[in-house]
Amino acid sequence: MEERVVSGESEWNEESFELSLRPQSIKQYIGQDKVKQNLEVFIEAAKMREEALDHVLLYGPPGLGKTTLAAVIANEMGVSLRTTSGPAIERPGDLAAILTALEPGDVLFIDEIHRLPRAIEEILYPAMEDFCLDIVIGNGPSARSVRLDLPPFTLVGATTRAGALSAPLRDRFGVLCRLEYYTEEQLKEIVIRTAAILSTKIDSLASEELARRSRGTPRIANRLLRRVRDFAQVKANGEISTALAQESLELLQVDKLGLDHIDHKLLKGIIQRFNGGPVGLDTIAASIGEESHTIEDVYEPYLLQIGFIQRTPRGRMVTNLVYEHFNLETPSK
Ligand code: ADE
Repeated sequence: MEERVVSGESEWNEESFELSLRPQSIKQYIGQDKVKQNLEVFIEAAKMREEALDHVLLYGPPGLGKTTLAAVIANEMGVSLRTTSGPAIERPGDLAAILTALEPGDVLFIDEIHRLPRAIEEILYPAMEDFCLDIVIGNGPSARSVRLDLPPFTLVGATTRAGALSAPLRDRFGVLCRLEYYTEEQLKEIVIRTAAILSTKIDSLASEELARRSRGTPRIANRLLRRVRDFAQVKANGEISTALAQESLELLQVDKLGLDHIDHKLLKGIIQRFNGGPVGLDTIAASIGEESHTIEDVYEPYLLQIGFIQRTPRGRMVTNLVYEHFNLETPSK
């Protein structure tokens, strides 16, 4: 369960590589200024009082840096980070094992916390509130409850859907942080920072092009950078020029706004099969062969943000901006 920023294993994977690119401190972390300003104060106050930081809920669309921020919080507090996720905790014993292994002040990061089973959530309440664990030993008439003390710790929960969290769980977080999409300037800075870590030369306009096509999301910016770097290495001299960035992004089927083939399938599906909407989420999902949850959590938030989709009581509708983007005639509704 230990978080390994630098893995000792020889096995290479994109996830561990991604981890090595991440900022370690608040100073290195680009963007989310309001969240950072507040966290800096809360972290300093907790350190002055020699207490664990209050529990933190990070919410917002995927790829905006929730896991990174949890690691930054642990680093800034000078404590260890333990990482798990809602769906990984299946039985009460799983959670008890994690909680009893914590050291005082540690950060426990639970990703996708809205997917914790309800029975597990209930064990978490006294753990968060009073740092204790009520466990039932045995079953039937001889069952009895035993209370175990836990070290003070900080729970950092992350979710793409704060609304899916039960009210009692949400209320037990003292610090609520909503992560916002990044601006193009911030993404450009992130692309330049990552390129420097990868020792890849990139020109200023190329980094802007990548930033513009990253849907406000650092994870996408870094992924596009790695793919464009592959093209630069194989098709050019290893340096990312503006022309090379543009050509590679075309080949990657990432359009001028950063929309990919699934965004296209979704938007064109609503236009071609449902006359532009309104149409229910489940109906769209079934018609294009994607999960409703994936559309709702991953694709739709950015399309809503840029005004391409509207949510109405009768379902989703595309806006005129979509017709313009695809060079289609705007319907005269
Ligand atoms: N890499 C990914 N996200 C980042 C961020 N917010 N700041 C700096 N580097 C990053």
